Amino acid sequence: MTTLNNIKAPVADDMQRFEGSFRQSLKSKTPLLNRITHYIVKRKGKQMRPILVFLSAKLLGKINERTHRGAALIELMHTASLVHDDVVDDANLRRGFFSINALWKNKIAVLVGDFMLSRVLLLAVQHKDYDLLELVSEAVEQMSEGELLQIEKARRLDIEEDIYFEIIRQKTASLLKSCCAVGAASAGASKEQVEKLSEFGEYMGLAFQIKDDLFDYQQNNDTGKPSMLDIQERKMTLPIIYTLKHCQSSERRFIIATIKSHNTDAERIKKVIVLVHQYGGIDYANEQLEHCRQKALSCLHHFKASDERNHLEKYLSFVLERKK
Ligand code: IPE
Ligand code: IPE
Ligand code: MG
Ligand code: MG
Repeated sequence: MTTLNNIKAPVADDMQRFEGSFRQSLKSKTPLLNRITHYIVKRKGKQMRPILVFLSAKLLGKINERTHRGAALIELMHTASLVHDDVVDDANLRRGFFSINALWKNKIAVLVGDFMLSRVLLLAVQHKDYDLLELVSEAVEQMSEGELLQIEKARRLDIEEDIYFEIIRQKTASLLKSCCAVGAASAGASKEQVEKLSEFGEYMGLAFQIKDDLFDYQQNNDTGKPSMLDIQERKMTLPIIYTLKHCQSSERRFIIATIKSHNTDAERIKKVIVLVHQYGGIDYANEQLEHCRQKALSCLHHFKASDERNHLEKYLSFVLERKK
């Protein structure tokens, strides 16, 4: 079993430095803003993205100042997207505590997210890290498009598996892909190397979101996020998409009606979840997870064997095995 500490160990010193500079990058003169960013920094997440930036840089060169700024850019962006995401998803829990919107209301959460985005821009521009900014901006563009595509599909509930993959590629895999690209580019890797490692990041990112969607089906999970929220929010993920395709038409009508009109009816939701298990929706999502792992591995094996490559392989295992 790979733990978060295992995957952090090869870059532990850099992560320690990162934590200080990340806190610094959020400081402001506005008391309310400082209170909120203090609250955010105290409840840090797994920090998967900065770890990935550093591991990527190490695979292809040396971690340097630009790598550190790249890691900060991405974690700032990620944090902003979570603050906004909880507004969009109407979620009151994040990292085991109340979300920003739950504590301070939506309007404040929206503005705090914007503030973080401004710090991303300033940090990059002040150091003329235009190439890194371009990589991160491409991801941000995709994240917004992915979220909007998801909302469009939630309205009509007409989602097919290929659209699901497109959504998660955009909303989640794009930023993890950019971690690899930013890490590699900061260390002076060639264009081909950056591209190949980015491809690894993208498959790993798909796995990351499939796993996240599976947590939603697991009551009392360890993620510190609400469970059973996706159905309530009409968010169609792999287990339910698969079930809808394979169940009987009466069951299909029951599921659709539950999502559309009875999405707070606990009894009905329980029945939907039983159907999802019964038709193998969870197993199918796990198979797809494994498929993404294999794809990611084959990209990674494009690089010659080394300790650094093993570290990235461990990272990939953690994404699939993690409990939060
Ligand atoms: C949550 O990401 C958002 C998704 C892309 C599923 P993480 O699981 O990395 O969140 P934190 O930063 O550890 O809280
Ligand atoms: C992932 O979306 C978050 C972003 C990509 C911004 P979700 O809504 O599925 O993620 P969680 O489960 O709330 O973290
Ligand atoms: Mg969301
Ligand atoms: Mg969410």
